[in-house]
Amino acid sequence: MRKIIITIDGYSSCGKSTVAKQLARKLDYVYIDSGAMYRAITLYFLQNRIDWTSTPAVVEALKNIHLEFVPNTHTGTADMFLNDENVEHLIREMLVAEKVSEVAAVKEVREFAVAQQVKMGVRKGIVMDGRDIGTVVFPHAELKIFMTADITIRVQRRFKELYAKNPNITIDEVKQNLELRDYIDANREISPLRKAEDAIILDNSHLTMEDQLALVMQWV
Ligand code: C5P
Repeated sequence: MRKIIITIDGYSSCGKSTVAKQLARKLDYVYIDSGAMYRAITLYFLQNRIDWTSTPAVVEALKNIHLEFVPNTHTGTADMFLNDENVEHLIREMLVAEKVSEVAAVKEVREFAVAQQVKMGVRKGIVMDGRDIGTVVFPHAELKIFMTADITIRVQRRFKELYAKNPNITIDEVKQNLELRDYIDANREISPLRKAEDAIILDNSHLTMEDQLALVMQWV
């Protein structure tokens, strides 16, 4: 079968990566988590005390950042490596989540990440999730999905995930972080989160994983 590009955009914690992984496994495609790239850049900026409001500082810092997705045989997906270090766990921490949307709004950061994402799609056969994949990274993708889900359901899902790693986390903290990220992502000047005109909406608030996969496979 002809290989295509599938883009999945949407708000934070809608289950984009779950659908993307399901599809990639079913179709034997490569799954790319574009958010991991913005998270890894944010981690680097935090670790090295880079002031991301200063363009020269950002430009200089980006020269020292090498990002790579390395396949993980245990999970069946890829781990994010930052300058040859596996940062898959570190980038999921709240410290990074709190700042990532600010960093992702910086023009030079987006240009850096998007250039690499575009290259990953050259041979097609990929599913990439994020915020601007159908609008900016792959405007000509064959299938574009825009995901939504009720905010209460999204908060519950995210809380469950984070609580497993950090029992001190509160529901309020998670809700505030999701709402703030969504606000910044949807209102930034460059590549704001929005539905591509030709994207299909997938509201998975009340779908089981099986129903969800069956539905998107029809679209494929
Ligand atoms: O997908 P995830 O929640 O891990 O993404 C983290 C953050 O990275 C988002 O809140 C958003 O600010 C940024 N992002 C983006 N564009 C993408 C993917 C993620 O701006 N394509």
